[in-house]
Amino acid sequence: MLSLLRPLLAACSCLLLPGGQAWIPGYNNGFHYQDISNGNGNGEIYFNGVRLLVESPELSVSATRGSSVTLPCHFHYEPEQTTPRRTRVKWSWLPANTISAPVSPEALTREIEVMVAMGSRHRSYGSFRGRVRLRRSAPGDMSLVISELQLNDTGRYRCEVIDGLEDESVTVDLEMRGVVFPYYSQKGRYHFNFFGAQQACKDQEATLATFEQLFAAWEEGLDWCNAGWLADGTVQYPIKAPRAGCGGVDLAPGLRSYGQRHRLLYRYDAFCFSATIRGTVYFLKNQTKFNFTEAVQACVSDGSHIAKVGQMYAAWRLMGLDRCDAGWLADGSVRYPITKARANCGPPEPGVRHFGFPPLYLEFGVYCYR
Ligand SMILES: *[C@@H]1O[C@H](CO)[C@@H](O)[C@H](O)[C@H]1NC(C)=O
Ligand SMILES: *[C@@H]1O[C@H](CO)[C@@H](O)[C@H](O)[C@H]1NC(C)=O
Ligand SMILES: *[C@@H]1O[C@H](CO)[C@@H](O)[C@H](O)[C@H]1NC(C)=O
Repeated sequence: MLSLLRPLLAACSCLLLPGGQAWIPGYNNGFHYQDISNGNGNGEIYFNGVRLLVESPELSVSATRGSSVTLPCHFHYEPEQTTPRRTRVKWSWLPANTISAPVSPEALTREIEVMVAMGSRHRSYGSFRGRVRLRRSAPGDMSLVISELQLNDTGRYRCEVIDGLEDESVTVDLEMRGVVFPYYSQKGRYHFNFFGAQQACKDQEATLATFEQLFAAWEEGLDWCNAGWLADGTVQYPIKAPRAGCGGVDLAPGLRSYGQRHRLLYRYDAFCFSATIRGTVYFLKNQTKFNFTEAVQACVSDGSHIAKVGQMYAAWRLMGLDRCDAGWLADGSVRYPITKARANCGPPEPGVRHFGFPPLYLEFGVYCYR
């Protein structure tokens, strides 16, 4: 795509600054463009008979929380240019929760700067500062390396290569490996407004799931007939086996959506997303059982902490935790993780079994996290 709004930047050897799209009418930097309508929209553009191509071998990359990830992006010219050109690179992103259902029309167009680079100089922004670099393993390699990945780094990243007045870009989606789980309050069902749901997931070492994450969970078999908030402010629920009371039998399997709901006024459950954990979740071996206060203390005495629900789900889904003993978790719920379904350990599918929130004086085992 030809960028008509960048003549100043093209003439200036300074870094491209966020929002710095100044406009000087009629400015000419000396280049002549023979055919400005030749860009085919596929990451290439022709000028002076030279073609700028920007490519990524991967449209989507998945990574684990806390690790480093490389989002591939390469550019080259056809024919190859012998004299070095002043090429700038800008990486920007659309956070995952603004992709599927933008809160405002503004959010659609508002990509956030991640990094800009020209020559050996570069600058990174916001929560990416100090966490991103260009790989530069070969000429034209502008792949972005992000380290210490956070749950909320997911989204669509754009690699934009700017040469003079021309710019071309490709996008790469970053997904986090993890697990989606439905969550409701100790106080009962349909208790959270949007912000309460956000906080509830955070309290359990998770974030509100994105549409893509819930969709992937549905593809993997999640069927849940209670509506929950997603990160984009919509309320949805995943149905594999259509039935009455869950959208009806006539509706095909899929995500049932109530669309955007008022974030303060409406109350639902939450769909949380938990990614890889660094530590391990384990069932505390002890002859005796504990009430909730004793359970919290027992983990501390064992040099750890009572496990949170997000940690339990991650350990179950990503590390294969399997234990047929009910145990307290940090939110006051009692659950146990089953990866190989068997007799006397709940339903015939794998899952984290849930006993709800029993009275805190009742005695169970406990799951700790270290
Ligand atoms: C992402 O999460 C981190 C750590 O929880 C937080 O510090 C940061 O502000 C979040 N970034 C955004 C854009 O919400
Ligand atoms: C069981 O837990 C209790 C209370 O935390 C503790 O006093 C006791 O030593 C534990 N027993 C074993 C066998 O770990
Ligand atoms: C758990 O038991 C202890 C005594 O071992 C008691 O002090 C505490 O109040 C009990 N907690 C609950 C929630 O019942």
